[in-house]
Amino acid sequence: MRSARVELRRFAAATELVEAAARFVIEAAQASVAERGSFRIALAGGSTPEALYRRLAASDLQGQVPWEAVDVFFGDERSVPPDDPHSNYGMAARALLEHVPLGASRIHRIEGELAPREAARRYAERLGRAPLDLVLCGMGEDGHTASLFPAMPGLDETRRLVIAAVGPKPPPSRVTLSLGALNAARAVAFLVVGAGKATMLARVLAELEIERPTLPAAMVRPESGVLVWFVDDAAALLLAGAGEFVTARPTRRLVKR
Ligand code: 6PG
Repeated sequence: MRSARVELRRFAAATELVEAAARFVIEAAQASVAERGSFRIALAGGSTPEALYRRLAASDLQGQVPWEAVDVFFGDERSVPPDDPHSNYGMAARALLEHVPLGASRIHRIEGELAPREAARRYAERLGRAPLDLVLCGMGEDGHTASLFPAMPGLDETRRLVIAAVGPKPPPSRVTLSLGALNAARAVAFLVVGAGKATMLARVLAELEIERPTLPAAMVRPESGVLVWFVDDAAALLLAGAGEFVTARPTRRLVKR
């Protein structure tokens, strides 16, 4: 029985969304450290999360995160070296990690320069079996998230936490957290911005309500964690209603607050 709480938070502009997402990360970090002494976060690649990383690095916010107790993981990585412009680690390093007091031993990157299966094996060891406290996710226009692409082999993997993947989005060869890892997380936050995502966002949110979703982004439904979709008005164009929606499982009905 899935018991996670699902929220859709909608913002007029992307800048407001980024501000709210930054606040969400800060509060999750503070709560995790207070409760468990550490905060294990997995970062997403893509353009939408990058703005969030820059915001978290800004002088007025960075002091609010207990960096000394943060472990940074990654939801996925492209098969490129860390200094390649397509590296998710490289993007996060430039936008955030190089600007905050985070020890190198607490940054756990996926080694994109290795063969994907070897990189997956080594990253799984690094990750361990403890649940992630927060996973940040983007959503592609085809409904992919992390590097879980529609209909790809391994999409239903729940035992292995990290898998190699090949997808249509360049660069194609990747390593990604599996659905098993995503759905074991204590919280997952999707960041979706722009009219180009409107059609798929409506499809994915509709699939969240059904027993057997086919779109990877709709398959992310943490067993006992919190699922929050941060969306801007442009992406939410095709959604009914204008406000904030909340669904409390197990009924899984979207209800207007
Ligand atoms: C990647 C990502 C991927 C991304 C989405 C959304 O490495 O490509 O992790 O899942 O988050 O494609 O990307 P945008 O925010 O750039 O649209």
